[in-house]
Amino acid sequence: MFQSRLALFSLVWFVALGGVASSQNDGEVHPQIWPESESPVGLDPKIESRITKLISQMTLRQKVGQVIQADIGSIQPDDLKTYPLGSVLNGGNSAPGGDNRADAQAWLDLADAFYQASQQCDLQGGPYIPLMWGTDAVHGHNNIVGATFFPHNIGLGATRNPKLLREIGAVTAKEIRVTGQEWTFAPTIAVVRDDRWGRTYEGYSEDPAVTASYTGELIEGIQGVAGQDDFLTGAHVIATAKHFVGDGGTFGGKDQGDNQMSEEDLRDLQAAGYPVAINAGVQCVMASFSSWQGKKIHGHRGLLTDVLKGRMGFDGFIVGDWNAHGQVPGCTVTDALPVLNAGLDMFMAPDSWKGMFDSLMQHAEAGEVDMARLDDAVRRILRVKLRAKLFDAGLPSTRPFAGDFDQLGTPEHRDVARRAVRQSLVLLKNNKQTLPLSPSSTILVAGDGADNIGKQCGGWSLSWQGTGNSNDDFPGGTSIYDGLKAQMNAAGGDAILASEAAPRIKPDAVLVVFGEDPYAEFQGDVETLAYKPEDRSDLQLLQQYHDQGIPTVGVFLSGRPLWVNAEINATDAFVAAWLPGSEGVGVADVLLAKTDGTPQYDFQGKLPYSWPRTPDQTPLNVGDEDYDPLFAYGYGLTYGDQVTVGELAESYDAQNLAGRSRFFQSGRAVAPWQMTLAADDETVAVRATRAATTGGTLQIYSADEKAQEDIRVVRWNGARPAAFAFTSPTPVELASDQKSIRIRLRVDQPASEDVTLRLSASDSSATVSITDRIAAAGQGQWVSLTVPLTSFSNSDAALSGCSGIEIATDGSLQISVSDIDLQ
Ligand code: BGC
Ligand code: BGC
Repeated sequence: MFQSRLALFSLVWFVALGGVASSQNDGEVHPQIWPESESPVGLDPKIESRITKLISQMTLRQKVGQVIQADIGSIQPDDLKTYPLGSVLNGGNSAPGGDNRADAQAWLDLADAFYQASQQCDLQGGPYIPLMWGTDAVHGHNNIVGATFFPHNIGLGATRNPKLLREIGAVTAKEIRVTGQEWTFAPTIAVVRDDRWGRTYEGYSEDPAVTASYTGELIEGIQGVAGQDDFLTGAHVIATAKHFVGDGGTFGGKDQGDNQMSEEDLRDLQAAGYPVAINAGVQCVMASFSSWQGKKIHGHRGLLTDVLKGRMGFDGFIVGDWNAHGQVPGCTVTDALPVLNAGLDMFMAPDSWKGMFDSLMQHAEAGEVDMARLDDAVRRILRVKLRAKLFDAGLPSTRPFAGDFDQLGTPEHRDVARRAVRQSLVLLKNNKQTLPLSPSSTILVAGDGADNIGKQCGGWSLSWQGTGNSNDDFPGGTSIYDGLKAQMNAAGGDAILASEAAPRIKPDAVLVVFGEDPYAEFQGDVETLAYKPEDRSDLQLLQQYHDQGIPTVGVFLSGRPLWVNAEINATDAFVAAWLPGSEGVGVADVLLAKTDGTPQYDFQGKLPYSWPRTPDQTPLNVGDEDYDPLFAYGYGLTYGDQVTVGELAESYDAQNLAGRSRFFQSGRAVAPWQMTLAADDETVAVRATRAATTGGTLQIYSADEKAQEDIRVVRWNGARPAAFAFTSPTPVELASDQKSIRIRLRVDQPASEDVTLRLSASDSSATVSITDRIAAAGQGQWVSLTVPLTSFSNSDAALSGCSGIEIATDGSLQISVSDIDLQ
């Protein structure tokens, strides 16, 4: 008796105190602790009664179709004559005819084709509902050749200039209109707390206040202002606040991972932008791939329905993320009723739309669908379509700005982007006032980022990963070198590319542009913040000039702060330039002085993320207890500052850093390893989703296993000997004979000849046959082949200075590979 009263008492006490402070509450929410917000749009009785009427006339197929979105890579316009879907999207790799470089006209034609097909749909007596096309215009209309590419959000975070975001939103929306879309999946308002996350650059800042201050401006820039005539119409499009909620705070910075914060931290640190977005009239919110306290957001009724739609009063619709509904327990990509019940309004079912349509129809016909919920989802989607006046908009090509291809990348638009670049640069070091550089001097420009617009643009640029682009893919854009060259030549000086310089050139200064290669989403997740720990080539390049006493400036391109102490030491001045986009000339604007030696523009950028002192110093955020960054949040020198950055500690126990134990992970090479195809004397670096050796002896392409593009299919046709290889520019110490090489693969077509695994060093190599293992793997199932290092004959040299690992055969073979590592 006494005991049970005590138990009851403590339960009451716990509830009275709120109970929510406990960090593990199994994902339960307390909507009353969340902020309220109110859309300025308000429910229009005329629109609402029109929706009521439409819903009463719609067939079940139409209702089911409205809540499904297909990807243009997996649906043909003609399919819409049979399936009355509500929407299509183009994923990061999808484009008209599968061509990422298709011209703007092709995009507009495709928009018309889908729209017309939807008009020709057999509606079985139901009313016509216009189609809607969503696109990831996340740093400008970045799928389109010739568009303006703005700096990624991390750079915009450095500008601390909310008004600039409004201009960027407006330019982006107008450029989207040119190619016939009416909806963008932006802004990302994730507040990133662990910079190992591959999407760090998609967030503005680690500080929720900066994110909140930008959100409303960007959304009004994109959508226009609620109440004004051109809201969601004219030069405006529908915006999406994403990814609700907690995507920036997952444990370990893992993409699609688990956010383990308390409910208060989730609200204060992660959700700060959402009330602002709603108050600015945002019409769409995208649910996050991630989980909160172990529960996937897509299945989280408390967060989607009770908090977002209930407490925050969001009256637009919630779109899912790319097949993310399939990750909810009990669901698959083609069958996910619990996700609709949790509050999702539109399934992003890129390649799974047909299965999803069929399963939802079956559930509905079997009476398993809560029809009030389905009607509510349809109502929300129709509400946004009506607010955006899509019922009266007509064929995409007939709408304002459609087909005005001159509006893509206009000088005015590029000016906004160039200004953004100028304001985003953060000066970390400027010893002896090395910067600004004289425009009438001679500057050598080195590094693989110097004349490389693709690298400047990063992920989400023409392709999903942003890989495989050349300068020609950005007509009208400028590389950093282009900008320097033009301004210096005009002032009587010269910028010379190191790769083209005559050996006897004695430059007045050297500018080395280097940094991360493009990536997106989980493919950019890293284990530590060390910058290319095994590949010291950029450092050597800097040192080569610095050691000669030539003033050396480092311009660092990256999607996040990284540990670059040695690189900083090898410079006199160091600039964090983030991912500046297509207007590289903005860098010259700040780094070059006027002819009288005074700056053209001062540095304005302030760190939007804390800069780490060691590679393992993560998470690292302003406000932490024991906060001890190398450069604090908000740091950023100006030309007036007389600060000397001393020698930074370079030693760090790199023993456990990535690269030593992994060659290939989730379909991507792990630095310093580079994926290559080799046949005879030919070596092809694999930089895009597809590659082949001449004549197609060896072909490789990306495919999906558990996530998008997380495996590679490798196919030997047997015409000549060929190898699928990973090479490192600098030898890597693998020595630890206790270990084994593990290859996770699936044999798709058996081997016709012997297959070998080879490790190579500069002048020796070690080989082992894996023919039997490949045969034993069978066909069509995933297996892990384990090859002990001890089984290689003559392995010592190859292990202590390994610069290559390869799978080779003279015959035909097809395998799919997800990971290669040392275990
Ligand atoms: C698509 C992207 C999408 C990603 C999801 C890719 O194949 O192109 O748009 O974001 O998959 O992981
Ligand atoms: C990403 C979203 C994106 C969507 C469509 C997803 O993989 O997480 O940010 O909007 O794909 O491309």
